[in-house]
Amino acid sequence: MRFSLLPKLYNSPARRLLPPFHRRIRFNYMSTDLPEPKPPITAAEKVQKFQQVFHSSPTDSWDKCWDQGLTPWDLGNPTPVLVHLHNTGSLPKGRALVPGCGSGYDVVAMACAERHVVGLDVSDIAIKKAIELSSGSPNAEHCTFLKTDFFTWCPDQLFDLIFDYTFFCAIEPELRSLWAKKMSNLLKPDGELITLIYPIDDHEGGPPFKVSVADYEEALHPVGFEATQISENELAIAPRKGREKLGRWKRSLHRASL
Ligand SMILES: C[S@@+](CC[C@H](N)C(=O)[O-])C[C@H]1O[C@@H](n2cnc3c(N)ncnc32)[C@H](O)[C@@H]1O
Repeated sequence: MRFSLLPKLYNSPARRLLPPFHRRIRFNYMSTDLPEPKPPITAAEKVQKFQQVFHSSPTDSWDKCWDQGLTPWDLGNPTPVLVHLHNTGSLPKGRALVPGCGSGYDVVAMACAERHVVGLDVSDIAIKKAIELSSGSPNAEHCTFLKTDFFTWCPDQLFDLIFDYTFFCAIEPELRSLWAKKMSNLLKPDGELITLIYPIDDHEGGPPFKVSVADYEEALHPVGFEATQISENELAIAPRKGREKLGRWKRSLHRASL
């Protein structure tokens, strides 16, 4: 009863009798000056914001972006083509590595009794996220996460498989030959490197830096890798379709033993 009288009171001269609290409610309720809801931030704006923070902090750039949740590359799920390759038995078993593993979805997705997967990332926050994610998975016992720098890390065992998605494009282009050398040093002589070649376009700057198949060849051929497959990634997520290829690389045993 008390509440049903309020609208009448608001519209009558007797509204002055209302206590200040109720007058305030009326003012907000009637106002047409309410702030417009902000439009959702676009993918391009997210990348721009990430780059701003990334370049503002040369020493701990990645950690800072992880800390602020500026991770526009993160699918929030495992990479569909990797899941497909895993489910169809098309990935080498044994020991696998995901450098620059971020939240670790891909590490968990391909870990199994026949394949132990190491995820490494230079960001402490990324690694903490990945450990938290994996701890809820039945595959947790087949994963290891390490906070370390890919370029200086020297494990005591080599790998049968290395999977690179958005790590090659995340590093400075001048580091690409070092990246290839490190891949070569970390893989067993008959090990396989699987890359998702992305983003294939012609934008300037980064990360992510633009890439092409030729960029991978230029880095990988000198250390003996040859492509066994380069194909369009039909399972790329919609915004990346047409700008992403699957590249599978192996060393010819003859050249690798030289
Ligand atoms: C673009 S993100 C990709 C993350 C993940 N692969 C994905 O697709 O969601 C690049 C990642 O590489 C990590 N990173 C950059 N430089 C690194 C380095 N030298 N060693 C290890 N990780 C590095 C960053 O912290 C970041 O998590």
